[in-house]
Amino acid sequence: MALEKKPEDGFQADAEELMNNKSRELLARLAYAPSVCPALKGACTRLEADDTFTFDLHREALIQLPGIAKNPVQRILPVNAVEVEDKNRKKVKIAIVFSGGPAPGGHNVIAGLFDAAKEANPHSDILGFLMGPEGIIEGMYQPLSRELVDSHRNLGGFSMIRTGRTKVDTKEKIILSRKTCKELGIDALVIVGGDDSNTNAAFLAENFLEDGVQVIGVPKTIDGDIQVADASGQPLCGVSFGFHTAALAFSRDIANLCTDAASDVKYWHICKVMGRVASHLALEVALQTHPTLTLIGEELADYLDEERLAAAEKKGERDYTAYGMTLRHLSRLVCNAIVQRAAAGKNYGVLVIPEGLLEFINEIQALIIKLSTLIAEYNRTHDTDFHSDLPDLDKKMNFLRRLAREAEERACISVWNQRDHDFFSDIPDFFKEGLLMERDSHGNFQFSQVETDKIIVGLVKDYLKILKEKGIYKVGIDRKWYENTLLRGGLKPDTFTSALFRNKDAKEAPLLFKEHIISVKTLTLALEKAGLLQDGGVPPAILKVFRKSEPDFRMQPHFYGYDGRGSDPSPFDCDYTYNLGRTVFALISGGATGQMAVIRNLEKDVSQWEPMGIPLAALMHLEERKGKMMLVMEKKLVDVDSKAFRAFKAMGEIWLAAGPGEDPCRRPDPVWMTGEKDKPLTLRINQL
Ligand code: FBP
Repeated sequence: MALEKKPEDGFQADAEELMNNKSRELLARLAYAPSVCPALKGACTRLEADDTFTFDLHREALIQLPGIAKNPVQRILPVNAVEVEDKNRKKVKIAIVFSGGPAPGGHNVIAGLFDAAKEANPHSDILGFLMGPEGIIEGMYQPLSRELVDSHRNLGGFSMIRTGRTKVDTKEKIILSRKTCKELGIDALVIVGGDDSNTNAAFLAENFLEDGVQVIGVPKTIDGDIQVADASGQPLCGVSFGFHTAALAFSRDIANLCTDAASDVKYWHICKVMGRVASHLALEVALQTHPTLTLIGEELADYLDEERLAAAEKKGERDYTAYGMTLRHLSRLVCNAIVQRAAAGKNYGVLVIPEGLLEFINEIQALIIKLSTLIAEYNRTHDTDFHSDLPDLDKKMNFLRRLAREAEERACISVWNQRDHDFFSDIPDFFKEGLLMERDSHGNFQFSQVETDKIIVGLVKDYLKILKEKGIYKVGIDRKWYENTLLRGGLKPDTFTSALFRNKDAKEAPLLFKEHIISVKTLTLALEKAGLLQDGGVPPAILKVFRKSEPDFRMQPHFYGYDGRGSDPSPFDCDYTYNLGRTVFALISGGATGQMAVIRNLEKDVSQWEPMGIPLAALMHLEERKGKMMLVMEKKLVDVDSKAFRAFKAMGEIWLAAGPGEDPCRRPDPVWMTGEKDKPLTLRINQL
């Protein structure tokens, strides 16, 4: 029922005025004019092929994308407006679409494109397809007016035309898309998206050649996994847009958690950070905030268990399970850090884990591929849907059990064998359900839907319990506090130290109870053995100290994803995306198609940025999707040999801070329009 406004609510108008006040930040954003690089300042540009950049083109790209496969890298150069031929200033109709997850800065791509197009010819039309690629297929669009564009300048989200994840992957969808573009008289289509959306762009460019409709891609994704260098390693695209802002937004929150953890000293905060596969965001967050421990998936994939390998070698065997990280080993790695900090009296901290971490755990990766293959095979042979036919976990498990049994009975090599089934049966149900979940429209495993943090925490808790029982996981006791407590209890501290502690001589370190003292019973025995047990049993002061040394692992899970993805863009992303929008127009007016708009030298000042078009086909490779090898754009993972990663690794011990003193947390700048123009640290360190 609607609430009636009562006459005495006279304050309401004033309250509404206060509540609806535009913030200073919003006003600054709407007024901000992004810096533009020299090549894009004027209304007219020309393209110049640059064959100093070369690529190792995949054979399959040549076969599947013959019309655009040989595209060169194209530089964008400014030209004097009076020299420009009329055709460069002809009226054009350009459609733009957002594809995939939102990323801060998308609205400025539209603004840059809109401004450049209107400067070249005020009669040109820009329209936006609504709800992602589905809008192209269904012909749902909105003409973009100056008013609409202006009201979204420098603002986050993709709300102006919204987005979606539909894949244009069938003949029928391509025919429908062509029909829409033809009917609307579209000259060029701009696809703003991640690796899969740019794959879409490449295939649409190829299919639209006949109609003369140009297609240009734009590198968007907070995941930061679109990074391009040519065959000789010359960087062409340092980072996708949105990465900087999302990383900063996550970093601000995580830095606050570091402060809270170090104040309240009772929680481990487990922070899962978005990034479907690559760990770029987790790495940038670590560089920005210096959390206690950050796991980087790509590093784990390279892991080699030297001890296990050596033990097998002694027996003249080769232990293949020593290559790559297992879940169990991962939990040990985390527990080691927790135990070390606890010994220093810090039973708290901040752990950052990338969303796609499990992709780098060999045994899980194998499961993901096997299950994808099985599901795809099921759908092909049954001509139905695995998830609709077997809606609940029990039914799915029965199906898998049957497959494993059949493989055993027929003694044949099978995708799913008894060992796979036993391993899979052992993992918790919520994780089983996660691994069996439907892939997205591009065939990607949906890591954001899996509770990676819960899995890690479960394993960590189990192993900490063992370490606690073994007397290894203990909280270090502050020496001063120990002395005071005993003195106040009428005891002489020195009398007890040798009997109770294993490190009494390590002067700086907190006191650690001996490993065998793990309960009141073992404490009593230790005192008895040392002749220190009093008539009334363990003295209360000693008991108090013992209780303080008993660790209680308490944790708080957090997920940093959708919130940062929706943040307003950083000044860097505002400038970057506005320049990308203008680059797109330069490519279109120069007649390019099948290209991705990029800006070189992003780590430098805007005055040194170089806008370019790079061939989409050259960025493709073969990847397993829904059990099939498909030609898709290659994702760039964290390079463990990069300077940024090496710099991060070198700080491991310092940020773990398993010693005296405060934790070295860093407070990053907020994502403010008015602040200094910052850039991703990963980008800056890699260019050092
Ligand atoms: P894009 O690659 O489309 O930019 O999306 C990336 C991402 O934000 C990932 O970090 C995350 O895993 C995924 O989207 C979440 O997908 P959804 O929005 O469908 O939940």
